[in-house]
Amino acid sequence: MKISSICCIGAGYVGGPTMAVIADRCPCIRVVVVDINAERIAAWNSDSLPVYEPGLEEVVRRARGRNLFFSTEIDSSIAEANCVFISVNTPTKTYGKGAGKASDLRYLEACTRRIAQFARGHTLVVEKSTLPVKSAETVQAILSVVSEGKTFDVLSNPEFLAEGSAIQDLFNPDRVLIGGQCSEACAALAAVYANWVPLDRILTTNLWSSEMAKLTANAFLAQRVSSINAISAFCEATGADVEEVAQAIGKDSRIGPKFLKASAGFGGSCFKKDILNLVYLCEHHGLPEVATYWEQVVILNEWQKHRVARTVVEKLFNTVAGKRIAILGFAFKKDTNDTRETPAITVCLDLLEEGAQLAVYDPKVSKASVLSALAHAGPTSTQQIFSVPSALEACAGADAVVVLTDWDEFRTLEWMTIASSMRQPAWVFDTRNCLDAQFIRKLGINLWGVGKPSNTKK
Ligand code: UDX
Ligand code: UDX
Repeated sequence: MKISSICCIGAGYVGGPTMAVIADRCPCIRVVVVDINAERIAAWNSDSLPVYEPGLEEVVRRARGRNLFFSTEIDSSIAEANCVFISVNTPTKTYGKGAGKASDLRYLEACTRRIAQFARGHTLVVEKSTLPVKSAETVQAILSVVSEGKTFDVLSNPEFLAEGSAIQDLFNPDRVLIGGQCSEACAALAAVYANWVPLDRILTTNLWSSEMAKLTANAFLAQRVSSINAISAFCEATGADVEEVAQAIGKDSRIGPKFLKASAGFGGSCFKKDILNLVYLCEHHGLPEVATYWEQVVILNEWQKHRVARTVVEKLFNTVAGKRIAILGFAFKKDTNDTRETPAITVCLDLLEEGAQLAVYDPKVSKASVLSALAHAGPTSTQQIFSVPSALEACAGADAVVVLTDWDEFRTLEWMTIASSMRQPAWVFDTRNCLDAQFIRKLGINLWGVGKPSNTKK
C-alpha cells in the first residue's frame, strides 16, 4: 500500500495549509484539494489566498500547479485518489437532539457517501476533521455497503496545528497521530509524513484513542486558558500580578510555561465546539460529573468575555452610551484573519448594547468580516460600528481603547499622538498585557491590564 495520489475534501483553514505542506514536502504525491465552495477554490488559485498564515503563500507558490491543485471537481478527484482526507467543518449542532453541544455530522456523512460512490479500487479514508469519538464507525458503516471492487481502510489523523503558526506547526509538528485498525494502512500514511517528520514523532494508536486524543488535547489547552483567566480575576481582587504568577508556576516543569497568558477568553473555531462536544458525549455515556467538569471551562470563558466588557463600562463612569471606543484587534489571536468565536464578538456586542460607538481596527480582518461576525447585533447597532484603516484613526477622539488581539504592531503604536487625540480622562484596556503600561500611564492615560495589580479596587 503506497499513497500516490491524495484528494482532500475541504479547503478551509485546516485542509488548505495541511495539503499545501504535504504537497511541498512530497513532490511525488499528487495532491488535489476540493471544496463545494467555488469562491474559496478560486481564491486558492489566485494571488489572494482565502486564509492568512505566515509562510503559506511561499509554500503554495512552490507547489501549486506542480503537484498541488485546488478544484471544484470533487467526484473525479475522489476517483483519481488512493487516499481521501475529510477536512470539512463539523460545527456545533443548532437543531434537534444535542443542539448547542453535539457536533453536526451532516457534512461528514455527505462526504463519506460521495467517497463511497466515486472511489475506485482500494482507498484510504482519513478523518482530518475533529470528530466525536466513534465517528469512524459511521464512516466505516457507510463505506461497507458499496459495490464490488471497492475496498476501504478508515484512519484518524487529527490536525494539531494552531492558526497563525500553521506552517511552522506543519513543518515541525510535536507529533503526528495516526489511529487505525489496519497496521498496513497506518504505515502507508506514516510513510507520507516520514518525508519530513522524524519517525519518533509519528505515533500510531487505535482509532478511538486517536479521535479521543484530539478532543482531549483541545480540552486541556482550553482548560489552561480558563484556569489562568479565573486566576486573573482573583489577582485583580487581591493585588497579585497574573503575569508574575504565571511565570512562577510555569517554572515548575510539571506545569510548564505555555498557555498561561490571561486574556479576554479563548476564541477560535475549535476549543468551544470540541469541549461542548466532549460534554455532550460524556452526558450520553452516563457521566454527568465529567460533563459538568469540562463544561465549566466554557462557562468560565463566557464569563471572562463579559467581565472585560463590564470592566470597560464601569471604568468609564458606568456609561458608554454615545462614547467612542477604539477596538484594536478583532481576530481571535494574532497572525490570523479568522474571527470565528473571537472574544471580540462578545465584548463588542456588550458595548454596543450599552450604546457605545465602536471604531474597529484589525490589520487582517476586513470591515465585511467584522460586520458579518457582529451581524446579530441588529441594524441599529451596526450604525454604531465603524471600521477604520489604522489604529491611530480608531483611537482619535476615543474615550477608551480596548486591545483585544495581541498583534505585534500594537506594541509599537505612537502613544504620544494617541494620548493627545483621545478625550480625557482616557482609558486603555489591555486584555493581552502586550502594551508598555508604564509608558502609557506616564502620558496621562489610565491603563487597565487583565489580572494586573493596579486594577485593585481600593
Ligand atoms: C474544520 C473544522 O472546524 C475542524 O474541526 C476540523 O478539524 C477541520 O475542518 P477548518 O478547516 O478551519 O476546520 O474549517 P473551514 O475553514 O470551515 O473549512 C471547511 C471547508 O469544507 C469549507 O471550505 C467548506 O466549504 C468545505 N466543505 C464543507 C465541503 O467542501 N464539503 C462539505 O460537504 C462541507
Ligand atoms: C487550537 C489548538 O492549539 C490546536 O492544536 C488545534 O489544532 C486547534 O485549536 P487555535 O485555536 O488555532 O489552535 O489557537 P490557539 O493558539 O490554541 O489559541 C486559542 C485561543 O486561546 C486564542 O483565542 C488565544 O488567544 C487564546 N489563548 C491561548 C489565551 O488566551 N492564552 C494563552 O495562553 C493561549
